[in-house]
Amino acid sequence: MILKILVFCCILPAIALPKDPTVCLTGYMTDVQKWVDEFGTLTVEPNELDRSIDLSTNTNVVTMLQKNLQSPYRSNADIRYLSLARCNLERVPPVFDQRDTNGRPLRQTVEYLTLYGNNFKDISAPGVQYDIMLNATDVVETHLEYAKFGEKSIWSTGFQYTTFAVLREFDLRACSIEFINGLIFKGMPNLEALYLGENNIKYIHGKAFVGLNNLIHLDLSRNKAYDKNGGLTSVTMESADLFERMSKLRSLDLSFTEMGRNVRVLSGLGKEFQRLSLCGSKVRSVPEKALSGTSMKYLDISGNYGILENSNILAGLEDTLEILYANEVGFEHFHYLYKFSKLEVLKLTNNEVMLITKRVVASLTSLKVLDLERNRFGSWIPPIFSTMPNLRFLSLKDNNLNLISAEIIDDIANISYVSLSGNNVVCNCHSREFIDLAARNDNEQKQTLIDLSIHTDNNTLKAIDYHIAESEFNSMIELRANISTICDTEKCKKYYVDRDHRFLIIDYDIHSYVCFHEYKNRFMSFINVKTCKDWQRSLEKVRNLDTSTNLVLLLTLPTTLLLLLLIIFIYRRKFGYFFVTMRNSATLSLISRTDINEEGKIYNYDVFVSYCNGDRNWMLDHLLPHLETECSVSVCLHERDFQVGLSILENIVSCMDRSRTIMLVISKQFLRSQWCQFEMHLAQHRLLETRREDLILVLLEEIPRSLRPTTLHYLMLTKTYIVWPKVSSEQTVFWKRLKKSLVVQQRKYKNTTLA
Ligand SMILES: *[C@@H]1O[C@H](CO)[C@@H](O)[C@H](O)[C@H]1NC(C)=O
Ligand SMILES: *[C@@H]1O[C@H](CO)[C@@H](O)[C@H](O)[C@H]1NC(C)=O
Ligand SMILES: *[C@@H]1O[C@H](CO)[C@@H](O)[C@H](O)[C@H]1NC(C)=O
Ligand SMILES: *[C@@H]1O[C@H](CO)[C@@H](O)[C@H](O)[C@H]1NC(C)=O
Repeated sequence: MILKILVFCCILPAIALPKDPTVCLTGYMTDVQKWVDEFGTLTVEPNELDRSIDLSTNTNVVTMLQKNLQSPYRSNADIRYLSLARCNLERVPPVFDQRDTNGRPLRQTVEYLTLYGNNFKDISAPGVQYDIMLNATDVVETHLEYAKFGEKSIWSTGFQYTTFAVLREFDLRACSIEFINGLIFKGMPNLEALYLGENNIKYIHGKAFVGLNNLIHLDLSRNKAYDKNGGLTSVTMESADLFERMSKLRSLDLSFTEMGRNVRVLSGLGKEFQRLSLCGSKVRSVPEKALSGTSMKYLDISGNYGILENSNILAGLEDTLEILYANEVGFEHFHYLYKFSKLEVLKLTNNEVMLITKRVVASLTSLKVLDLERNRFGSWIPPIFSTMPNLRFLSLKDNNLNLISAEIIDDIANISYVSLSGNNVVCNCHSREFIDLAARNDNEQKQTLIDLSIHTDNNTLKAIDYHIAESEFNSMIELRANISTICDTEKCKKYYVDRDHRFLIIDYDIHSYVCFHEYKNRFMSFINVKTCKDWQRSLEKVRNLDTSTNLVLLLTLPTTLLLLLLIIFIYRRKFGYFFVTMRNSATLSLISRTDINEEGKIYNYDVFVSYCNGDRNWMLDHLLPHLETECSVSVCLHERDFQVGLSILENIVSCMDRSRTIMLVISKQFLRSQWCQFEMHLAQHRLLETRREDLILVLLEEIPRSLRPTTLHYLMLTKTYIVWPKVSSEQTVFWKRLKKSLVVQQRKYKNTTLA
């Protein structure tokens, strides 16, 4: 047992790769350069071999380097590449004055240097002794600077008093570095890329990067700082203008480095700056307009929950931003993206988006990829996505869509790749149609990849143009299943021949494209649902059946019927209502009673709105904008289709059950519609059954007592109701009251909901 643990402990540090499994937009160090691999071994081209010395894992660096440089087998080419990776060094050895056979010191020829995987943890005890010749004055200076921090740092003395004439890239990853002193890089005026990832940096001196006048890319990613007690903490950056002096800086990687309060340093990023990752940096708030002075193209703020709550980090980037990754940040307001006309990729997975407005969408003229996986987006009212001329990839996987309608299919007709899996949709013939059309398209089309704007500039670093977005989405396309067999019969193809839809499905799987079938009361695959043609046919059958039964009745029981008609005529008002109630109760008893509300139930929506088709405009123009945009209330709507009739019933019930509150929008028209009356019964029934009290009545007009059905009368006596004022000046009060009653409901359920 002990042996096992020991072996484990000894092996772990050697193989540990602090690379996080979650990938950020800016990728990893090995993605942005070609000369070194992830463990510090040189990977130069064969024709550069005699210009490189790779001493990785060597434990006798100083002597070996000397031997190597003076070797008679070496050609007289300059040494451009040097690796001292994983050599168990505790300080940087002062070897840069060593000369090659031509008498040129390394400091004058080395362009690419890696010290990956050494151990520069700060130690107060003297470490390995090198034969160092130091300028004593400088040494004293450094120690003075450190005195106030109570630590001594000597790991860098081996290079900090040396001037490197042509050093372009310096790799100090995974060196257990804890302190970055002032002025340690001052002898590297031509450095373009500095990799300081995967260290344990606690403290960065205010003058740490002074002298790096040509630095373009700085990698401070995946840093883990520990406090005295061994707990994780954030790095301390001494000065707010840390980056201000680096006027050439264009790319900064802070992925998975806990930033704490140091985010103010971001305000110092200059006009040239264009690529930033704050992915997983535990940033809560960023100074107002911190990035607005930059030319930001690629930005990843994923994993910083609430980062957009206090200030809008996106402000001022409208004309430059091309790719935004903002996963798991609590993103809610799509209007933050208004007029981002250059934006091509928008990845917003695991957020709270439930509303996308036409105004914002129409302004996203370059958008090609929109990934909204795991949000709260519901069935939308088209056109939304068809107004984006360049949209090629749309994922609405795992959202709150509850119905696929013909209009929705038309709205995504010209998007190349779509995903709608994992939504709680009700089976209707359009869900079948959606799959059939995609399968038909797979039969007839070729798969093409997504191209994003290309920026290539031969003279600059690869790091400033690199991002993972294109390959991420294209690999999804390459891995997608071709479902042409679902619709490869002539009959199927012929059936859809006039449909000019072009979308393909990204993530088809028979188990992920399922819908709820209301009659059968179970989930089934989209492909097992009836086609619209068959659906129509069976509806007609039912209608014919109805009329024939009536005929039989008429023929066999004429006298009874006459009598009944007479009674009905006399008590016509009372009877009409009686029949509606009877029929409604009968239907209600058919609905399953299994999903009764339990304690701790999670609601997908804040409110279900029941309205009559005649009041649809009021709902779209007034109610929806107010609730969704201004109050951030998520609304479950269900766009009713009278042709499908009762097939929608289960949808309504599930919509009601998944909403915290039920709102009835009542008008005279509502009361005239049997269907709406039925919905009112249903609401009351459901509330009683689930022992909830949350019903809000909105009266669009005064309903005289004589017109109120018993149910409504009862509800108006027991529930609060709000009347919509015709005078617009009084409408503010109406919204206030409505909001208040919704908020009260919300508060009551706060502990039991997700949001
Ligand atoms: C040490 O460096 C300082 C300035 O950096 C210089 O003025 C001084 O002459 C140097 N001393 C020696 C002994 O090289
Ligand atoms: C799809 O594209 C075709 C041809 O470009 C166009 O005629 C059609 O109107 C588009 N459909 C939608 C719904 O935008
Ligand atoms: C799907 O497979 C069929 C038959 O193998 C092929 O003709 C078609 O081009 C493929 N579809 C796509 C979009 O690649
Ligand atoms: C970049 O390099 C390629 C070939 O190496 C060359 O054809 C092209 O003209 C260069 N572009 C610029 C902007 O220098």
